Amino acid sequence: MANQWLGLKTVINEGANLINGADVVADMTDSELLSTQAKSPLQTAIPIALTFIVVAIAIALWILRPPLDTYTQSVLNLSGDAVQGRSIFVMNCVACHGQWADGKIGPNLHGVSDRKSDARLIHQVVSGETPPMPQFQPSPQDMADLLSYLKQL
Ligand code: HEC
Repeated sequence: MANQWLGLKTVINEGANLINGADVVADMTDSELLSTQAKSPLQTAIPIALTFIVVAIAIALWILRPPLDTYTQSVLNLSGDAVQGRSIFVMNCVACHGQWADGKIGPNLHGVSDRKSDARLIHQVVSGETPPMPQFQPSPQDMADLLSYLKQL
C-alpha cells in the first residue's frame, strides 16, 4: 500500500514537472528558443559545400568555353585599318547606324566595344541573328578593318 502511494506521488510530481516545463518553454521568446538550438556541423558544412560546387562549375565552364571559330580567329590575327574600316562602314552600315554611327534604325555605336568583346562584335556583323540587321560576309581583312573602326568609336 505504501509503495503504491509512493508510485502515485511520483506520477503526480512528474506531471507537475511536465506542466512547469511547458510553462518555461511558453515563456521563452523565439530568439531564446533559437539560441538554445546549437547549429549542427552539417548545417554549417552544407552552405560551404554548395559555394565550392558553384565556384567549381564556374571555373569548369570557363575552361571548357567554346573555342573561337576559325573565321573569328583569323580576323583577330590580322591588324585592322580604321580608315579602311570607316569606308566599309559608310558603304554598308550608315543607312541604319547613321553617318557618324550615332544611331538611326540601329543603335548608336559609340563605345560599343566597351559593351561587347571583339568576338561579340564580329559575331554581331556576320551572324544575322538580330534582324533587321542583315548578315554580312566580309573577308577577314575587311572585318578586321571594320572592327578597328568600331573600336575607336
Ligand atoms: C538594316 C539595318 C542595319 C544595317 C544595314 C546594319 N545594322 Fe547593325 N544593327 C541594326 C539593329 C536594328 C541593331 C540592334 C539589334 C539588336 O540588338 O536587336 C544593330 C546592332 C548592331 C551592333 C550592336 C550594337 C550594340 O549596342 O550592341 C553593332 C556592333 C552593329 N549593329 C554593327 C553594324 C555594322 C558594322 C554594320 C555594317 C557592316 C551594321 N551594323 C549594319 C541594324 C542594322
